[in-house]
Amino acid sequence: MQLIIAKDYGEMCAKAARLFAAEITLKPDCLLGLATGSTPVGLYDALIGKFAEGELDFSQVRTVNLDEYAGLPGSHPQSYRYFMDHHLFDWVNIDKRNTYLPDGTAVDSEAECARYERQIEALGQVDIQLLGIGLNGHIGFNEPGDSFPAATHVTDLAPSTIRANARFFRSIDEVPTRALTMGIGTILKAKKIVLLTNGAAKAETLYQMMYGPVTPQLPASILQFHPDVVVFADEEAASVIRERTSADR
Ligand code: PGA
Repeated sequence: MQLIIAKDYGEMCAKAARLFAAEITLKPDCLLGLATGSTPVGLYDALIGKFAEGELDFSQVRTVNLDEYAGLPGSHPQSYRYFMDHHLFDWVNIDKRNTYLPDGTAVDSEAECARYERQIEALGQVDIQLLGIGLNGHIGFNEPGDSFPAATHVTDLAPSTIRANARFFRSIDEVPTRALTMGIGTILKAKKIVLLTNGAAKAETLYQMMYGPVTPQLPASILQFHPDVVVFADEEAASVIRERTSADR
């Protein structure tokens, strides 16, 4: 894994945006794997800025998202479809027919997961998969457990994830308890993986992900086995790595 340490959140997002911009420029019909949450917002803002400056053309770009809450329609302000529209897609010239997320409202969630997995396969290999990391080491909604789930699946959210995500809802009771998520196997098929993380709260998790044992108890640790992972971290998130290793300075 390559670790790139930025001085703060803004610099981290700007650096990651350059990598995505290069991909879109070199391969206009690239397939991007996208993520939601607080972390990628600044990256999306930076890409919108580049589009506004005339530097980027999204007209042929295709996207697949990691996950979606079970039960939330795309019109729900906390659904990930809504998030993507409002934080990126509505601000650039992407064709929304080329933007894919699992359907959280599907009556048969298992069938929807199988359909989504086939959909991704039909689109081809993801060129860059963007990830955040949960405090508990989850990627997508692959929560700590006894094994690494291979394909897109329905999952119960960990209590800590429900607590962490409650900040986006009026009350914790409104946070969905289940989600449809790409599996670890789905994520690992990407050609390149870019993981963004900022803030001191994630510093120990980031250290464990990069230097701890590979274990489903910390799902992101499996990324140690992927041949092309770039981690962008701000100084705070990289603080434990700095303390305990002689990593990239
Ligand atoms: P965050 O979420 O970006 O909102 O911290 C990351 C995650 O849970 O994967």
